[in-house]
Amino acid sequence: MTPELFRRLVTQASHAPSVHNVQPARWRLDGDTAWLFEDRQVRLPAADPTGHDAAMSLGAALEGFAMAASLEGLHVSIGRADDDATSDLRPVARLTFEPGGVEDPLTAHVAARQSWRGDFPTPSSEDRQAAASLASPDCIPVTGPHTIRAIAQLSDMASFGFMLQDAFRAELLSWMRLRRRHPDWARDGLNADAMRLGLLEKLGAGLVMGRGFRPLLHYRLAEKLLSEVDRTAGAAAIVVFHRPQGEDPFDSGRAFYRAWLRIEGAGFGAAVLAALADDPESAKTLAAMVELPEGRRIVSAFRIGRRPQDAAFARARRLLDELIV
Ligand SMILES: Cc1cc2nc3c(=O)[nH]c(=O)nc-3n(C[C@H](O)[C@H](O)[C@H](O)COP(=O)(O)O)c2cc1C
Repeated sequence: MTPELFRRLVTQASHAPSVHNVQPARWRLDGDTAWLFEDRQVRLPAADPTGHDAAMSLGAALEGFAMAASLEGLHVSIGRADDDATSDLRPVARLTFEPGGVEDPLTAHVAARQSWRGDFPTPSSEDRQAAASLASPDCIPVTGPHTIRAIAQLSDMASFGFMLQDAFRAELLSWMRLRRRHPDWARDGLNADAMRLGLLEKLGAGLVMGRGFRPLLHYRLAEKLLSEVDRTAGAAAIVVFHRPQGEDPFDSGRAFYRAWLRIEGAGFGAAVLAALADDPESAKTLAAMVELPEGRRIVSAFRIGRRPQDAAFARARRLLDELIV
């Protein structure tokens, strides 16, 4: 493993999704061994108190790294590292390389994948069929418009439940970059382009999420302003992502990224509806709606649909020198 190749692999890995775009993965090359660490300074105590989403994000980054290595003909062997919870840089995995890696076909979709949080054009019956064909051992696509609307309402209720928590809102707001001149606009978190906020929404978002929330709540406006029901209901499908109960979230994160790349490969844009999985009552309702198989857990969900023509925007990512420690 040369430093140049390692840098290329880390660059590819950095395209992986991460919760609130905090990008917790850090990398080190030590001779022929590479290390994946978690930067615990970017933990989300309010949104992710157990570190579940951080672990998923690390799994996704590792999957991105292994996929990129496959393009170079390398197979990556992964040893999980001991959890050293006290240091800011927590070792997560030790990686070694062998020749004989087979090119992973999902790598073809890494460059185009990004969260699409805007509206979808009205789905055609072909779109619904294409979405239905995404059914796999860990994905259940829901394509019936009535069920999609019911899930959209459930998702809104679950999200709003989290929004009612002051600490959750404050933390989310601290990762939002509403103005282009924000120093971290292009570096991390959720910028206004990624959130598809128009000019007025940009001005309003800070207010709704911050000082204005309580007064708006009083007039029952907060819920309306934050509602995504119509946008979610306009999806071609809701894809429910599920994994074995008790699976390490790191491994769920690897599979999550692969599921997202399969969605991208079918020509769909996707936005994550994590609240559906994170709120236990909603997850239970959703499990019943989709007849979740025994022994499985809903880990996440996506709303998916075709993207409009001008949908692409620049990714916000940390520079390589921050990622390699
Ligand atoms: C564990 C996890 C949970 C996520 N939850 C949400 C969510 O609830 N809502 C959302 O819009 N995006 C969610 N995302 C997507 C991230 O915000 C997104 O991947 C990140 O901002 C990077 O942007 P990109 O997907 O465009 O590369 C989640 C991603 C991960 C890995």
